[in-house]
Amino acid sequence: MTELTRRDLLRGGLALSVVTLVSDAAMAHANALLSGYPGVASAEATAAIGPRERLLFDFGWKFCLGSDSDPLRDLDFGKDQSSYQGGFAKTGGFDFAVEKFDDSKWSSLNLPHDWAVELPFVHDETLLAHGYKPLGRKYPETSVGWYRRTFDIPASDVGRRILLEFDGASRSALVFLNGCFIGRNDNGYAPFHFDITDFLNYGEKNFLVVRLDVSYGDGWYYEGAGIYRHVWLTKTDALHLGKWESYVRSDVKGKIATLTLGTVVLNEGGRSERLSVHWQILDADGNTVAEAESSQSDPLAPGNSATFTSHDGQLRAPKHWSPEAPYLYSAIVSVKTDGKLRDAERISFGVRTVAFDADKGFFLNGKSIKIKGTCNHQDHAGVGTAVPDRLQWYRLAVLREMGCNAVRTSHNMPTPEWVEACDRMGMMMMCETRVMSSNPEGLAQLETMIKRYRNSPAIILWSMGNEEWIIQGKPQGEHIIASMVAHAHQLDPSRLCTAAVNENFGQGVSRALDVEGINYHLSEIDKYHQTHPRQPLVGSETASTVSTRGVYITDKLRNWLSSYDTNHPEWAALAEEWWKFYAARDYLPGGFAWTGFDYRGEPTPYGWPSINSQFGIVDTCGFPKDNFFYYKAWWAKDPVLHVFPHWNWDERIGEPISVWVHSNLDEVELFLNGQSQGSQKVQPLTHLEWKVKYEPGVLEARGRKDGRVVLIEKRETTGAPATIKLTADRVEIDADGEDIAIVRVEVLDNNGRDVPTADNLIRFRIDGQGALLGVGNGDPNCQESDKEPRRSLFNGLAQLIVQSTMTPGTINIEAHMEGWSGDQPPPAQLTIATKNVELRPAVDQ
Ligand code: GAL
Repeated sequence: MTELTRRDLLRGGLALSVVTLVSDAAMAHANALLSGYPGVASAEATAAIGPRERLLFDFGWKFCLGSDSDPLRDLDFGKDQSSYQGGFAKTGGFDFAVEKFDDSKWSSLNLPHDWAVELPFVHDETLLAHGYKPLGRKYPETSVGWYRRTFDIPASDVGRRILLEFDGASRSALVFLNGCFIGRNDNGYAPFHFDITDFLNYGEKNFLVVRLDVSYGDGWYYEGAGIYRHVWLTKTDALHLGKWESYVRSDVKGKIATLTLGTVVLNEGGRSERLSVHWQILDADGNTVAEAESSQSDPLAPGNSATFTSHDGQLRAPKHWSPEAPYLYSAIVSVKTDGKLRDAERISFGVRTVAFDADKGFFLNGKSIKIKGTCNHQDHAGVGTAVPDRLQWYRLAVLREMGCNAVRTSHNMPTPEWVEACDRMGMMMMCETRVMSSNPEGLAQLETMIKRYRNSPAIILWSMGNEEWIIQGKPQGEHIIASMVAHAHQLDPSRLCTAAVNENFGQGVSRALDVEGINYHLSEIDKYHQTHPRQPLVGSETASTVSTRGVYITDKLRNWLSSYDTNHPEWAALAEEWWKFYAARDYLPGGFAWTGFDYRGEPTPYGWPSINSQFGIVDTCGFPKDNFFYYKAWWAKDPVLHVFPHWNWDERIGEPISVWVHSNLDEVELFLNGQSQGSQKVQPLTHLEWKVKYEPGVLEARGRKDGRVVLIEKRETTGAPATIKLTADRVEIDADGEDIAIVRVEVLDNNGRDVPTADNLIRFRIDGQGALLGVGNGDPNCQESDKEPRRSLFNGLAQLIVQSTMTPGTINIEAHMEGWSGDQPPPAQLTIATKNVELRPAVDQ
């Protein structure tokens, strides 16, 4: 297509500055954005320095399903009272967590892992919200999962404190080590940890077992099942920094940023310690740019903790963090006794100012900008909730390409790597907790979220939750939010709090929020602003426009929604409607469209056989739907010209077809087979539309800027599929057992044009130093397995994700077309090189 377009243009003698190619543009741009990807090895592991060790605990697990109803199918767990209820009170007796237990029949896997994605779909309407996966009390045999891991602890670790940390596990986790019950964690989103120092076998093998139970869920969307985030083992001196206690706040006045530095030190050793805390502030190049110190006159007694703060750090003419230039500083926080380093950690932070103004909207670093946001769940084709780190970056790159500058972590606290990717890529965040409550669990989750992420410059707002219909309009709502907001301000005085409110505006919850979050309800927003002129607002959730990628005729029988911007449920709005509304009002800072990516569950407005939502601006693989280009035209900076639908309508010859263009140029002229169909001036924030009588051939849009044609975009009637094309986001990845290549699969006709309607079944063969991680095609109705090495194309596209092993070499991918009539085209081949890298320190297998 590139060649054709260029040749045609040269023949026509047009002066062109840019040529866009729809099929390759997203990939190219995503790659450019991803070039700053630090590689997984440089991420969390750098948090540990000095005598501290932070070890990744993701590799070499065993797994089996248990049962919520039958102890005999659940490792005898709960077989009698003494082995379950009463058993937690005593130590020992959990035979699955001792050496003699035989797990040889269990499957072997690495984390992150989501077992729900591997389960079959079941047509039971009670499962609709979770994407028809058999989870919950009705499905005891598939709702409990057991994980087991053997590991060594050297004798030299005696005297250190050892923390077992889970970034998140879904859910109701029970943790056992060496026959002992260690602890539990109910919710599926907040990180949790246990100090396992007392339970370890030093100089010997250790046996760790985790039981998860998703019989009760709490989302109305797919939540997955399993240890779907990283696990870590952190070893420190007995005198050590408190977990997530270190923070850096910056107060910018003129050209100076004054730093408030704080941390907590715990003494879990046997004697009093006289200590000092030192902060070394580094710029992005590693130069020391400020230092500070704090000490206490009294020694810290065993079993005690002490808080240390300093206001001595200053940055002159600091570089500010922004979406365009996400500059990060870091602070090395260290604890010393008599000049000896006892513990240290590195935290990254940014310097930026954020302000919400009730009349003028949102300001970052004193500059007014609009929040062009999307809400997203953590869920991707092929992997479910177990999203590898690199995929977090990929997903953000897709959103960035359309000009999205902010994400809302709906409706739960995010995975650390998502936040880190936002910090490093320059994506602002509205960071949301799962439970809107001031009960102990609610406040604990809020506290964890704030302490965990308060150093992240990406986060511009804390969200206290989403749509709690029962309390939202009541005095209890106000009281609960008031307690949550007070707690949040105490932990982090630098950020404002909001919540995603739907209805009851001005009552209950709204009355205690710093920034009123409005879900949908465009018609109420001006009124609210007039009656609450001092309270800033944010569009916490909006749009919910629904469309199926590559579909142009809504077909209720096939659960398809047209991709023209024409469909939304009754509470929602079209892309063009909501953005015109927000863009026109200075007092509105912008908002978050529901959603960036499609996700499993909530298959609105249809049900079975749909298994995922259709709200996404991109599908579950990240392939753009047409609305992507509406946003890109009005959110991003580059010139955009996007014409649709495709031009393969054999059955509609002679019928008028609606042709839309999303463009931010001055004027667009449309041609069919060289005949002008008329020229139209672009009105800001508005699509263009022609009615064109269909005949096969070439539909061509020419976009003019300042009188000159600067972009040309074509849709051509293609022939039948003839060859398979595989394109990876990168052809070289890290040989670290974590990195992935994301492969776009499509078919081309005899003239090398991608066939936009193709639905061929493609079978993959993968060998070498990598393995299949998952497949998808973005079809909301496709019930093929995410884990088999085969996938049908959906409207011309599928996605294959492969993951490296730890041995450098190559991953060889071969793709065959199935069910082919006539001569089988040669298989497509793609080789991904996996390169030697320093591995993240990990717990030995
Ligand atoms: C909202 C809700 C979202 C999603 C959306 C669908 O009310 O907050 O989670 O359900 O509706 O339109």
